[in-house]
Amino acid sequence: MSGIESLPAGFLFGTSTAAYQIEGAVAEDGRGPSIWDTFTAQPGRIADGSSGAVACDHYHRWPADLELLRRLGAPGYRFSIAWPRVQPDGTGLNARGLDFYDRLVDGLLSAGLQPMATLYHWDLPQRLEDAGGWLRRDTALRFGEYASVVAARLGDRVTHWCPVNEPNVAILQGYAQTGLAPGRGLLFGALPAAHHLLLAHGLAVEALRRGSHGRIGTATNHFPVWPVTASEADRGAAAQLDLFWNRLFADPVLLGRYPHGLLADASPDDLALISQPLDFYGVNYYNPIAVRAPAPGSPLPFEYADITGHPVTGFGWPVVPAALTDLLTGLKARYPALPPLIVTENGCSYPAGLDDTARVDYLDAHLRAVAEAVGRGVDVRGYYCWSLLDNFEWADGYTQRFGLVEVDFETLERTPRRSFTWYAEQVRRHREAHRPPRAKRD
Ligand code: GAL
Repeated sequence: MSGIESLPAGFLFGTSTAAYQIEGAVAEDGRGPSIWDTFTAQPGRIADGSSGAVACDHYHRWPADLELLRRLGAPGYRFSIAWPRVQPDGTGLNARGLDFYDRLVDGLLSAGLQPMATLYHWDLPQRLEDAGGWLRRDTALRFGEYASVVAARLGDRVTHWCPVNEPNVAILQGYAQTGLAPGRGLLFGALPAAHHLLLAHGLAVEALRRGSHGRIGTATNHFPVWPVTASEADRGAAAQLDLFWNRLFADPVLLGRYPHGLLADASPDDLALISQPLDFYGVNYYNPIAVRAPAPGSPLPFEYADITGHPVTGFGWPVVPAALTDLLTGLKARYPALPPLIVTENGCSYPAGLDDTARVDYLDAHLRAVAEAVGRGVDVRGYYCWSLLDNFEWADGYTQRFGLVEVDFETLERTPRRSFTWYAEQVRRHREAHRPPRAKRD
């Protein structure tokens, strides 16, 4: 066996989505406004001027999407719970909001699927942002309460939990820079927000341990950072971006300390919460990033550079599957107590069209890259493709299509692409390859 079939028995194939990107129905059943409703309403923030107000209308069409998942046959399904549906103002309980996820989880289980729930995929209740958002410690405490409320209702059935999706992306692009909500642009002033979001992760882990038997992990974005040349200055720039993108968020979770004197006043109690043992560590990977030393006077200690010599996706992102192998082996080398890994997101955007051979090639090569890492001794337990459906791609609106299923955003009709059929076939073949031999009857 080579390639995908060589992935171990029980390897969990799945797909990922997020609430604001697919649900729509932003003012229904008591949902409160989130920072994404606010951000999308500000002129110039979103490439095509759109919002997630309707998105894929998954809130109403979820039974059809569940049917797609059943047909796909990949048993893992990662979705996110919209905090402002459950707690419209970031406190209390809006039972109707939680009812939606209750039905979804039951539907997933009865279709033989394993629900992996993310509690925060970037849709902070606007009321909490108005009070200071992640710059305020109290927001982390509110998040711990929210996690308890969700666990009390769904803790008996959700099989996997990711408290926070990509804390690094949420803080670095939403608080340090301006590309994602709330778009604050505080540069290094965003550091306290990083600590509070990590503390939120820790408080949620604690609440979920109390209220659920499900496995608890993370979904952290990682990319290998490449210096454009081997010069000391460029290598120094790469180390800086690696520090802020990868280590600032992974070290406290996996080592119980911040790197390089950052956030040096974090208390031991906070760090103990943040570094509680996890059942899996989730990695979201898309591409490597190249940097060079910054021009004099630059506010940042690195400058982004192009990666050449590799094919690119519709987004212009370089396709480098070997970088995923490096990333997974690198995590194992850097973190001695690394729990089992799950690739909680990996995928690509290509222009609309059903014959998406380029996506098949991307997914095939990246699954092989995971198999390669497993062959080198890294314990990787699953792979979740981003994404089941074309959806609202944050600041890029509906211009980037990541779906195994094409969505017509006029009619909201769903049509599976070639990649859907291909992925279903890989899952089936892997299952067949690992089916225990039938007991002989004499
Ligand atoms: C991730 C994010 C997803 C999705 C994906 C593709 O960073 O968690 O929500 O947008 O990128 O860009």
